[in-house]
Amino acid sequence: MKNIVILISGDGSNMAAIVKTARREGWHEKLGARVAAVISNKAQAQGLVFAREQGIATEVLDHKSFASREAFDAALSKLIDRYDEPGQPALVVLAGFMRILTPRFVSRYAGRLLNIHPSLLPAFPGLHTQQSALDAGCKFAGASVHQVTVELDRGPILAQAVVPVLPGDTADVLAARVLTQEHLIYPRAIAGLLQK
Ligand code: GAR
Repeated sequence: MKNIVILISGDGSNMAAIVKTARREGWHEKLGARVAAVISNKAQAQGLVFAREQGIATEVLDHKSFASREAFDAALSKLIDRYDEPGQPALVVLAGFMRILTPRFVSRYAGRLLNIHPSLLPAFPGLHTQQSALDAGCKFAGASVHQVTVELDRGPILAQAVVPVLPGDTADVLAARVLTQEHLIYPRAIAGLLQK
């Protein structure tokens, strides 16, 4: 069994989309994979409620209780590695996990660490992507699923979705339009990776 460990910091709507798609498409039977755990760096993350309701193991690891980024990432690794199966290391899926990860962490999970970012990378890495797209006068916005590498938001792109920017859009309205597409491309990209 290939375990998927999803890391969140907030609403967890991408995580919920992955969990629901996995169930609907029978990933357990067809791909030998399951969402085994959801880990949040925030105890109040709304997504934890959904994950618990689904009977998925949840963990909270508060980054504020660690002296350094390195110490937090080391503890996070320990939690994640509990979900490795013999010969089947877990797939680590960042879904609105708002932490910059250390190079040591990223290289440990090389090739099995994914992220979704709410822009058409390589445009607009980092934060405030939709406001940046509006400020730049973009006619299209979107989201990207990518492999995580040490350079922030710059790993190989696995999937993208495009949405139009419409007259009168605010960053929030545009972000909501992008998010509906995120919920489609992230599960699809993960399933694609699991099939390889
Ligand atoms: C999503 O839009 C995701 O692309 C973005 O945070 C949101 C999380 O929503 N991620 C980043 O900005 C990462 N740099 P969710 O918690 O409902 O999935």
